[in-house]
Amino acid sequence: MWRPPQRIQFEPKPGRIPSVAEAAASRLFSPVKVGAIELEQRTWVPAMVPWRASDEGYVTDDVVDWYCRFARGRPGAIVIEATGIRDVPSGPLLRIGHDRFLPGLKRLTKAVREASGGHTKLLIQIIDFLSIRRRPDRTKFFQQFLRVTDAHRAALGGPGMSDADVREKLAMLSEEKLVAILSAREMEALRFGQRERVTDVELPQIRDLPQMLPDLFSAAAHRAKNAGFDGVELHYAHAYTMASFLSRTNTREDGYGGSLEGRARLPLEVIVAVRQKVGADYTLGCRFLAEECIEGGSTVEDAAYFGVQFARAGLDFLSTSRGGKFDDAKQPGVGQAAYPYTGPSGYECMPQYISDEKGPFGRNVQATSAIRRAVREAGFDTPVVCTGGVHNFDMAEKMLADGVCDIVGSARQSLADPDWTLKLARGAGAQVRLCEFTNYCEGLDQKHKAVTCQLWDKIDLKAPGVKLTADGKRRLTPPEWTQG
Ligand SMILES: Cc1cc2nc3c(=O)[nH]c(=O)nc-3n(C[C@H](O)[C@H](O)[C@H](O)COP(=O)(O)O)c2cc1C
Ligand code: SF4
Repeated sequence: MWRPPQRIQFEPKPGRIPSVAEAAASRLFSPVKVGAIELEQRTWVPAMVPWRASDEGYVTDDVVDWYCRFARGRPGAIVIEATGIRDVPSGPLLRIGHDRFLPGLKRLTKAVREASGGHTKLLIQIIDFLSIRRRPDRTKFFQQFLRVTDAHRAALGGPGMSDADVREKLAMLSEEKLVAILSAREMEALRFGQRERVTDVELPQIRDLPQMLPDLFSAAAHRAKNAGFDGVELHYAHAYTMASFLSRTNTREDGYGGSLEGRARLPLEVIVAVRQKVGADYTLGCRFLAEECIEGGSTVEDAAYFGVQFARAGLDFLSTSRGGKFDDAKQPGVGQAAYPYTGPSGYECMPQYISDEKGPFGRNVQATSAIRRAVREAGFDTPVVCTGGVHNFDMAEKMLADGVCDIVGSARQSLADPDWTLKLARGAGAQVRLCEFTNYCEGLDQKHKAVTCQLWDKIDLKAPGVKLTADGKRRLTPPEWTQG
């Protein structure tokens, strides 16, 4: 993972430990209405892919165990990981693109509800993403993948050259020489693996996204409602399709790109279609980027505009993230796919303890605050969720007191200790296992390995009932909190 060159080390601190009475009187532990539901407290576990679904995208026992473990910490809400809306093979990513996924998802909602004793609301994040290929082997790229064009022939000086000759000649050239012959996209396909963009309108499946996605999202959201989820979060963030429509890099000229209005058009059409399908009395929100954090990417002013439009379109919550783009991702190894959390924008999304002057804690506070202010000034009281580096009571409480947000998200701190807010509420804040923001978990995520936390995955491996990863080296869920 990329790290800021300043290399300043930050240490998470437990902060002030509230008494039971103080916690009970706090903003963090006060209820909040989110559309049709009410959260008992303003604590929120944002979506995190733990790589526990089956290869066909079904809910497994491990998926159920994972979310039940979070539920026993009784946060206000848990958002289930990014779940694919299309009925296409996507590896071990959870899927909701067909009714056959319903029984598993129903089992999940029921189990989580029981595990939290009915205290936690359960939402699901639904996602669309475009195709990305692994970085090819150089020889294979020239022999099989590259489509030979007249531009290549012209550059090599032989208009009558056969495809085979062109391939052979190109394969012998250095990267420096190739840059002058191959197009930027062809170079990218060679160096990173071919990746579709929303601007590839010459491809029918890309051109027609505005016609396809409203139906796909609304069918998936409808399934989520039938499966018993309390709400749906549309994934409009990071490197995926909807975020790419919102991006300043979206130069589509068919009315779905270019201007702010054009870029927001499809995301708003999806909201309308989903709302029609799930009804007015169902909680629907989205996660989107407060800042894209790439050169030429969307700014916080753009995000404020989007936030206002989403609120006006009737979303029940707005959850912010930042960065996480392919545009500045590291070159993957041969045979691996590029990963959108490996460059500077990836750092903004999941900043670790080695940082710059801004540090890893609360990097999205300023931008989210500006978005919320714009939404309020436009006359909407839509709750806003802010996430990023939150790991203690003081920090969460200050964000609420300062009007940064209405709900506080904590992903890695909840992974490090799913009971952390329950401990705070019960006066046991001193027992919180503080996330160290090392991104060991993120490294596992990147390799599509079962995500665990270094602070607990080696504890009591041989204890009865403890389930381990396939290699037997790590436990799959954190030890239970036994209140002393
Ligand atoms: C293992 C892992 C998986 C993640 N998966 C998702 C995801 O599916 N959807 C999403 O919007 N964000 C995802 N994120 C980002 C988190 O929701 C969160 O925004 C980020 O970790 C920063 O918050 P934190 O500092 O509280 O961890 C993931 C993060 C981690 C560590
Ligand atoms: S592995 Fe654990 S301690 Fe490290 S960043 Fe992830 S959650 Fe935090």
